[in-house]
Amino acid sequence: MTKNIAIFASGSGSNAGNIIRYFMDSKTVSVRLVISNRSKAFVLERAKALQVPSEVFLCEEWESGGANVLAVLKKYDIGFIVLAGFLVRVPDAILHAYPNKIINIHPSLLPKHGGKGMYGDYVHEAVVAAAETETGITIHYINECYDEGKVIRQVACPVLPADTPKDVANKVHALEYEYYPRVIEEIVLQGE
Ligand code: GAR
Repeated sequence: MTKNIAIFASGSGSNAGNIIRYFMDSKTVSVRLVISNRSKAFVLERAKALQVPSEVFLCEEWESGGANVLAVLKKYDIGFIVLAGFLVRVPDAILHAYPNKIINIHPSLLPKHGGKGMYGDYVHEAVVAAAETETGITIHYINECYDEGKVIRQVACPVLPADTPKDVANKVHALEYEYYPRVIEEIVLQGE
């Protein structure tokens, strides 16, 4: 049976687009819905171009407990949630409705450079400022605490002394595009 997934994203959505394309012809996993908290997020354009329905829920909908989000997830028969650059705290009601069925990707080797306020380019700037010799990606389950859920997979890449935050971002994005769809597939099908 096909497992329906929803992607939550706040920004550009390059990972969301990559994941949608990866599962386009899949018989086991279907990206049924994209949800964003920003009506101008570019991820919405990507979803439209790739013919995936999208819904926007603004700040107050999340802060008031996410009942409307949950209703839409039920409507689309969503069984698994993938966060891809989603910058809002997922309400407890959704966490409880999807135990071990929500995963996130963070653009560093957690616990390094994680936590509140650490997202996107801020992470790569911190990695360069700390003169790290490696960074990478962490794919993990989410729980009530930012970036602290059980780690599913980490993949590292080198950071060279001359690398700028942009260089680091490019390396990390390449890892994200290669690994995130495959790990999603493994985890979703494993839960069958
Ligand atoms: C990705 O690099 C993702 O790992 C990061 O935001 C970027 C979104 O890019 N997520 C976080 O920092 C979460 N703390 P995208 O919108 O192009 O997919």
